[in-house]
This record gives sequence, structure tokens and C-alpha cells, in this order.
Amino acid sequence: MKQHDGMYIDGSWRPAAGSGTIEVVGPADGKVIATVPAGSDRDVDAAVRAARAALPGWAATAPAARAALLTALRDQLAARADEIAETVTAELGSPLAFSRTVHAGIPVAVCGSYAELAASYAFEERIGNSTVLLEPVGVVGAITPWNYPLHQIVAKVAPALAAGCTVVLKPAEDTPLVARLFAECADAAGVPAGVFNLVTGLGPEAGAALAGHEGVDLVSFTGSTAVGRKIGALAGAAVKRVALELGGKSANVILPSADLARAVAVGVANVMANSGQTCSAWTRMLVHAEQYDEAVELATAAAAKYVPGERIGPVVSAGQRDRVRGYIEQGIGQGARLVAGGPDAPRPDGYYVSPTVFADVTPDMTLAQEEIFGPVLSILRYEDEDDAVRIANGTVYGLAGAVWAGDDAEAVAFARRLETGQVDINGGRFNPLAPFGGYKQSGIGRELGPHGLAEYLQTKSLQF
Ligand code: NAI
Ligand code: MG
Repeated sequence: MKQHDGMYIDGSWRPAAGSGTIEVVGPADGKVIATVPAGSDRDVDAAVRAARAALPGWAATAPAARAALLTALRDQLAARADEIAETVTAELGSPLAFSRTVHAGIPVAVCGSYAELAASYAFEERIGNSTVLLEPVGVVGAITPWNYPLHQIVAKVAPALAAGCTVVLKPAEDTPLVARLFAECADAAGVPAGVFNLVTGLGPEAGAALAGHEGVDLVSFTGSTAVGRKIGALAGAAVKRVALELGGKSANVILPSADLARAVAVGVANVMANSGQTCSAWTRMLVHAEQYDEAVELATAAAAKYVPGERIGPVVSAGQRDRVRGYIEQGIGQGARLVAGGPDAPRPDGYYVSPTVFADVTPDMTLAQEEIFGPVLSILRYEDEDDAVRIANGTVYGLAGAVWAGDDAEAVAFARRLETGQVDINGGRFNPLAPFGGYKQSGIGRELGPHGLAEYLQTKSLQF
């Protein structure tokens, strides 16, 4: 077991102000794999001061210099991809192959995309007799979750640095080890002292101190709706910018003309990936009444392929396992029909949850309304297209979704009626440049690509 005692502040690793520690638990067997310092408001304050002091210099660098630095950071992340994948597997629990392609691979692509955007983005525009300068917002407080622990760090830090902002990161307490690796990569890439800072710690302490710090100009948060609401309220009271990426309850709408077998197979894979801990997962499958029984059979067979410990890992923590099992029990209690999985532990050790599929889920059930964040799929029945739209839009969330139809035009016509920030058409591929973020209570703001960069900029108009 490794005992880490430093936090990355002002360009070096230094001990925490207090003596508190956080135990990092490996969810595959419940054993403690490392400890990291539990930072306090004093550590946050030191990090924010360092970020403020570094801001004028960093904000004044030429975009090409920021691009070169992000290229160096991307190269560091690529060079250490194996170590990153192994670390995420150890602290989050996802199978190693998934950690390699997704947890280690996507951050390299996203960091690279911001290296290119920093070089090509128009940080100045002409509007009539004005020149509009797009300037960095300032010091960013980034608070990230554990489910895609490195991706969510890079999706905030890379655009912030590209914009000329400086950053203090408070990563999730469940997955601080990959955040430490990220800080090592930033250091090795030559990020100047104070431009990027890392404070590990608990949400209600270090996280709350960062969100409420008067030296922070923008808080960018990804996590639960409950915490997002608090951070939004704090930011509102302090009149500071805020970006919130919160939960989802996305719909996978299979229209009658679609390739049913493919739509169901991709839909099940989407929900089981990362043990269901994906905010944009399509956790509600909407199927026409006439194809319903066939879809349920296909989904049941598809779920059986996700053997716990092989194709699907544990969930992140004992608390998350208990929360997910509670939802499964509630689903049974409310009368949904369990066709795969269930609340029982599929393995003697570790925080595993059986890949679970419910049929006969109605739109008002808890299963169809609340974010479960585990490997649980609900299959709902619709009668016609208007009914499908009503069900798909019938939650407080609007983060993602999918539409399947015989041709793209039919799927697009349906997608236009969805209240959601992202829709995959007939199994469309992930695009690291497409804006990601929510309608309704799924959040405020967008991440990734040029829209994600714009979140970290503010305008200054010069009139001539
Ligand atoms: P959380 O919202 O408590 O944690 C996310 C981040 O917020 C962590 O870094 C945490 O330390 C920090 N945090 C917690 N309380 C804070 C506070 N008062 N002030 C500032 N920062 C604070 O999420 P948690 O408890 O780990 O997961 C609970 C549920 O949230 C999940 O079951 C899932 O439904 C949802 N969730 C959604 C995510 C998404 O990607 N949108 C990611 C993680 C969780
Ligand atoms: Mg929490």
C-alpha cells in the first residue's frame, strides 16, 4: 500500500496543512490500495493563491505557446497510458481493456483536440465597428467525479488552459490516484508553477472550500444533482460563473423501422459499459408495443454476456453498490418485471452488481425517473410516436439519448423533438469535439470542442 503525502500546489508536491488522510479502496476486493492527504480549506486557499498569482502571466501567453504546452501534456498522457489504465482499474474497478481504450485513450484525444483548438481558435472577432476580445475567465475551480476520472479532469483542465485560465482541481475522493498521475504529467509537460494545482480531499471540506472561495472566478462541477444545486446556489450568491454537468436518465428510442437486434444489442452495451456508471447512459429503452416482447428477449440474452469479474467490473464503492441494489429492490417492489440480474451479490468479494434488466417498467416508476448509476436497464413500452416523445421527455433530465430508425432522416425528425443535449443517430460514433451537456436539470454549460472552450472565455468589446 502506498501512502502519498503530497499535493501539487504552485509547481511542486508539498505536504497538506492538516494530517487527515483518505483511504483509496479497490472495489474488486474492498482492500485499501493507497492513502492520499485529505486537504482542508487551508490547502485550497494556498492553491487558489498560487493560481491567482500565475494568472496574469499565463493569460498573456500567446495561444501558440499554450497549444505547444497542451501538445506536451497530451504526449505525457499518451506515454503513461498503461500506468493510467492500471490505476483506473485499481481504484474504479473497470476491466483493463475498457480502462485502456476509454479511461486512458479518450483523454489523449481530448487533450490533443484542445492543443489544436488553442492554435486555431479565433480569440478575437470583428462585429461592425467593434473588435471583440475573447479573454480567459480567470481562476477555475474544477470539481470532478469518479466515474470517468481522468476524462472529466481533462475535459475541464485542457480547455481552461487553452483559454488562458489557471486551475485548482479537487478530484473525487474515490479516484484520487489517477488525478495524481495527471498532475505528474502536467509537471513533466512543463506547465508553469501555479497554472495547474491539485488538492485531494473530501467534497464537503475541500470541495466546498473551493466552490466558495472568493479567489475562484468560475466553478466547473461534474457530479450529483444534489451537490450541483448547492454549488449553483453558492456561485449565484457570489455572482461567479458556474458550469454544472449533472445526472441523466437518457432514452434509447427504437422506432418500428429500426434494426431491432442491433439497436437492442448496442443499447444494452451502452448501459453495461463502466458498470452503468455513465451519466449519459441510455438507461431507458423505449420499444413499440408490437416489438416489445422480442426486444425484452433480445435484451435478456445480451445482458447474460456481461459476466461480473470478466466483461463487467464492480461499481466504485460499497455505498454505490448498496444504492444500486436499493433501486433494484425498489423496482421489484413497484411491480416491474425482473428478467435478468437482481439484487443478490454475483460474487463473494468486491462491490459487484449483477447486470440487471427490468421489463414492464412504466414512466412513473422510480426506475424510469431517477438516475441509478449502476448496470440496470429499464425497458418501457410505447404505443405511437407521440407517446414515445412524451415518455422520452418525461423526466427532469435531458443529457443524452439515442434514436434508431430505418433511415437517418426519420431518426433525425424524431431527435428534433427530444429535450436533450446529445442524441446518437442509428449508433453514431463518439465525437470528442461535439458539445456535451444537458437540457433541463442535467446541467448548465457545455464541455468538449469549441463550445467547451467558450465556457472558459469572457468577452471585451473595443469600439472604433
Ligand atoms: P458527488 O456529487 O457527491 O461527488 C462529485 C464530486 O463532488 C466529488 O469530487 C466530491 O468530492 C464533490 N463534492 C461532494 N460534496 C461536495 C460539496 N458539498 N461541495 C463541493 N464539492 C462536493 O457524487 P457521489 O456521491 O460520488 O455519487 C452520488 C450519485 O451522483 C451517483 O450515484 C450518481 O447518480 C451521481 N453522479 C453523477 C455523475 C455525473 O457524471 N454526472 C458523476 C458522479 C456521480
Ligand atoms: Mg457524495
